[in-house]
Amino acid sequence: MAGLLEGKKGLVLNIANDRSIAWHIANNAIKHGATCGFGYLPMEKMERRVRKSLEEMGVNEPWLSPCDVGSDDSIDAFFKAAGDKFGTIDFVVHSLAFANKDYLAIGKFLSTPRDVFRQALDISAYSLIGLARAAAPIMPNGGSIIAMTYLGSEKAVPGYNVMGVAKAALESSMRYLALELGEKKIRVNTISAGPVRTLSAMAVGGIDEMFAHTERKAPLKRNIDGDEVGKTAVYLLSDLSSGVTGENIFVDSGFNIVGL
Ligand SMILES: NC(=O)c1ccc[n+]([C@@H]2O[C@H](COP(=O)([O-])OP(=O)(O)OC[C@H]3O[C@@H](n4cnc5c(N)ncnc54)[C@H](O)[C@@H]3O)[C@@H](O)[C@H]2O)c1
Repeated sequence: MAGLLEGKKGLVLNIANDRSIAWHIANNAIKHGATCGFGYLPMEKMERRVRKSLEEMGVNEPWLSPCDVGSDDSIDAFFKAAGDKFGTIDFVVHSLAFANKDYLAIGKFLSTPRDVFRQALDISAYSLIGLARAAAPIMPNGGSIIAMTYLGSEKAVPGYNVMGVAKAALESSMRYLALELGEKKIRVNTISAGPVRTLSAMAVGGIDEMFAHTERKAPLKRNIDGDEVGKTAVYLLSDLSSGVTGENIFVDSGFNIVGL
């Protein structure tokens, strides 16, 4: 298969391990000829874990730099280092989120404290604005920015709680960014993935029921895997989607279309 991303360079934030959706996106992007640089959350042992997961992908000397999206200084330092390394880039993958898991339990939305709300929105939604602003100067030829979201943004999914509110803000931010960055030929889109067994997903209360419910109800009668998100990401990062911006694409076995 011809490489759809041949000659393109991009940044992927953030892999935690080989189950991360970011890992699957990077794996597919690299298979399609892309050169990727990587962020990681500056936390003990994280750099080593990310390197190990990239080795499993066959990437032995990755460019890695810390990026905590809760800090403007950290975002700026990451993109400065990326600019020094790559010159210009063609894409950015935003595949990260955080909310205090004590409030991702069924029946706990009403008790969400202000600081938990603020942190979830800051890390999971504002971060897209922060990354896009820092990336735009090193995307002089335009390109593609994508972020990962979930159906809990538009429907009330038991247990998803404040993360659903954050995903609504993320998707809305995606549209406003698409509107402003269009004249720079930078496209911005989201992928709404069905449940995938990752570290973050395991923090969501009722996740097992989400998997079971998808198998019962989704048109494809099965759950998706991370690789399927990675393949759709290749489409959005590549020139195949050159006319697509401000869009949300579901990769969820069709779950979202079913009413009953
Ligand atoms: N797994 C699912 O079922 C699913 C479904 C739909 C959408 N998503 C979304 O996909 C994205 C990736 O999640 P995942 O499921 O691969 O889980 P994951 O745990 O593998 O990845 C989450 C990443 O977020 C990073 N992160 C957390 N706080 C950060 C911060 N302050 N600064 C920088 N990075 C930070 C973590 O280090 C981790 O690498 C998230 O946006 C998630 O909401 C996941």
